[in-house]
Amino acid sequence: MLNQDKVIILDFGSQFTQLIARRIREAGVYSEIHPCNVDPEKIKALNPQALILSGGPSSVLEGGCPDLPPEYLEWGLPTLGICYGMQLLAHKMGGKVVASTDREYGRADFYAMNECPLFEGIEKKDKLTVWMSHGDRVEAIPPGFEQMGRTESIDFAAMGHVEKKVYALQFHPEVAHTEEGAQIIQNFLFKVANLTPSWSMASFVETCIEDLRKQVGDSKVVLGLSGGIDSTVAAVLLHRAIGKNLHCIFVDNGLLRMGEKQEVIGFLEEHFELNVKFVDAADEFLGKLEGVSDPEEKRKIIGYTFIDVFDREAKAIDGVEYLGQGTLYPDVIESESFKGPSAVIKSHHNVGGLPEKMNLKLVEPLRELFKDEVRRAAYELGMPDHIIWRHPFPGPGLSIRVIGEITEERLEILRLADRIVQNELMASDWYRKVWQGFAVLLPLKTVGVMGDDRTYEHVIALRVVDSLDAMTADWSRLPSELLARISNRIINEVKGVNRVVLDISSKPPSTIEWE
Ligand code: XMP
Repeated sequence: MLNQDKVIILDFGSQFTQLIARRIREAGVYSEIHPCNVDPEKIKALNPQALILSGGPSSVLEGGCPDLPPEYLEWGLPTLGICYGMQLLAHKMGGKVVASTDREYGRADFYAMNECPLFEGIEKKDKLTVWMSHGDRVEAIPPGFEQMGRTESIDFAAMGHVEKKVYALQFHPEVAHTEEGAQIIQNFLFKVANLTPSWSMASFVETCIEDLRKQVGDSKVVLGLSGGIDSTVAAVLLHRAIGKNLHCIFVDNGLLRMGEKQEVIGFLEEHFELNVKFVDAADEFLGKLEGVSDPEEKRKIIGYTFIDVFDREAKAIDGVEYLGQGTLYPDVIESESFKGPSAVIKSHHNVGGLPEKMNLKLVEPLRELFKDEVRRAAYELGMPDHIIWRHPFPGPGLSIRVIGEITEERLEILRLADRIVQNELMASDWYRKVWQGFAVLLPLKTVGVMGDDRTYEHVIALRVVDSLDAMTADWSRLPSELLARISNRIINEVKGVNRVVLDISSKPPSTIEWE
């Protein structure tokens, strides 16, 4: 760990800062994000080989804007400034930044110039589509710099000081909308800074465990296990770091799928020797949900009941100081109120209000990762495929898939139907190809025939979607034979169901879940 190349990203508050880190990780290089106002001595002690200055919402033309202490430029590190980072470099090194009349936001055509190493090997460098999001712009570049690229609207969309190895881009190479953005970042890492790729998810796991140990020390941590991959990986990392001082609580809210407890908790206890307390709170949850059919009302009841139960159980453990959560980076940005360096974002997402109510410090081992990276971490931790590839399952559980009122009988119908969906997706190898697949019980009955009799029974909807991040989704084009098998099995095997329908809506405008 100690000898590998390290890039420091100074965060000036951009919502994309983590994406920069992600691109660097993907290139196999270790990076750390630090707030822009960190003590430069602390950064020096880390002995970085390169520096990246992120974007940010501020203007260098305004008083009190985040600054770049002069030390960073004196060390002579290869440096890449992005957006605000570029303006800061121009401003500090003797160039001129001016305010634009309007903010440029969105795609722009970029033309690379002067054999800049950042664009080496990029065939389309004569006209690249890039992503812009800025108000100010550089009007004059500092002495010793060259113009490295322009767009239709700005002359200095890229600049570089070849000798000093200081480069800057007005656009965001880290976002997917910028063509060849990952390559531009890799060129900075390997052609400008001459780094060697040596970082891997295995080393992330190792560093993360060391950091958790430092953060938590001998204190006790309580963590709510949901059975999903995020809380499971968070728990295993914490367990590796602090062992028996991690106390996991698994709350059965009566809204779980069939076999949920055995599949996940049994596995964790057996293979990872986690300290798990199983709490059967089904009656409490279902009692409070009785007669409620409004979706928002259901979610609220489940949310506050969970907090009550968890709080009660956690208080029964002596001397807990930390609440562990499997928060991922997309959760962090979603809950961000965008005010400044993203390192100061408060963690008030997830089971709304739990940290505040419990007055515990937070420990969130996954807050830098994206979902696919969590899966890679799970792999490194030795988890089996059936845990790594489990589909996401919502906190409110089956309550938002039993449309309308929740009763034991309706839950049982849904569980049996859902089991068939899960089994068939797995047996046909479609489970891994889709983002999520499940059954929904509709609040209506329809007519059917069974033998000589008419029936009047429940309808199950089948919802299977493809997605990368759940923000958008499309219905999966499953083979008709598979659909037929699922439908036949549900109608034949689940008593009380005489019809299966397929949901063919995309998100947006629909959502993945029905409530
Ligand atoms: P929607 O229905 O909004 O779902 O398209 C997007 C993703 O989020 C999951 N989901 C939830 N997860 N608590 C959760 O933990 C919730 O209340 C919740 N609602 C939806 C959903 O399963 C999908 O993966």
